[in-house]
Amino acid sequence: MQYKRILLKLSGEALMGERQYGIDPKRLAEYAEEIKKVVDLGIEVAIVIGGGNIFRGVAGASNGMDRVQGDHMGMLATVINGLALQSALEDAGIYTRLLTALEIKEVAEPYIKRKAIRHLEKGRVVIFGAGTGNPYFTTDSAAVLRAIEVNADVILKGTRVDGIYNEDPEKNTEAIKFDHISFDEVLKKGLKVMDTTAFTLSQENELPIIVFDMNTKGNLMKVVSGENIGTKVNL
Ligand code: GTP
Repeated sequence: MQYKRILLKLSGEALMGERQYGIDPKRLAEYAEEIKKVVDLGIEVAIVIGGGNIFRGVAGASNGMDRVQGDHMGMLATVINGLALQSALEDAGIYTRLLTALEIKEVAEPYIKRKAIRHLEKGRVVIFGAGTGNPYFTTDSAAVLRAIEVNADVILKGTRVDGIYNEDPEKNTEAIKFDHISFDEVLKKGLKVMDTTAFTLSQENELPIIVFDMNTKGNLMKVVSGENIGTKVNL
């Protein structure tokens, strides 16, 4: 296998499945099955999940809500998603631990780096909730930060598009997909992979990012096996 320890970033919106908001249990169960295949191979899996299916701090701010307040609501939304994912993974027979950046210890373990690493070494899927625990940071930043902290080999950013294109493939059918691209090239071309804070943190720490379509069955397995699907960003 190409990777020993991965950090999987899932968007909150992806959990909506066919719905307009909230969590689709069918989609959750599908994700759990995909993750199980990888865990069964002995790959250590950490997960950061967004909260956009429940609440987005930025959207709150644009509606006149205090940004920090909105971001706190968004962080709590990621904890809700984390609990849902934990439950689905446990239904699939996977051992998990949910660790949160904000202390809510009646609900989940507080995040402690060494604890997180031990859990991973013991084969538990570790879900990181509440983002970085700070306002003004996205869950992409949380994903990069945690990946660096726990020494993950790669960030797998599961999205609904199958990679990085030179133009938005949902707007232009002629858009061309990159198999590989460098961090510098992404910045130079102004392509959107992650927000700048998250992206440069990944670049500075030489942590590769693979953007791939998580909604196609078998894709996660293909990515961890080193198959050339999606787009890989590295130095
Ligand atoms: P090790 O024994 O170190 O391998 O890890 P462990 O997680 O199995 O042991 P621990 O006794 O710390 O945890 C047992 C259970 O309690 C696990 O399901 C943990 O997720 C949970 N747990 C541990 N600490 C906390 C906490 O602060 N809050 C909550 N809500 N659960 C916790």
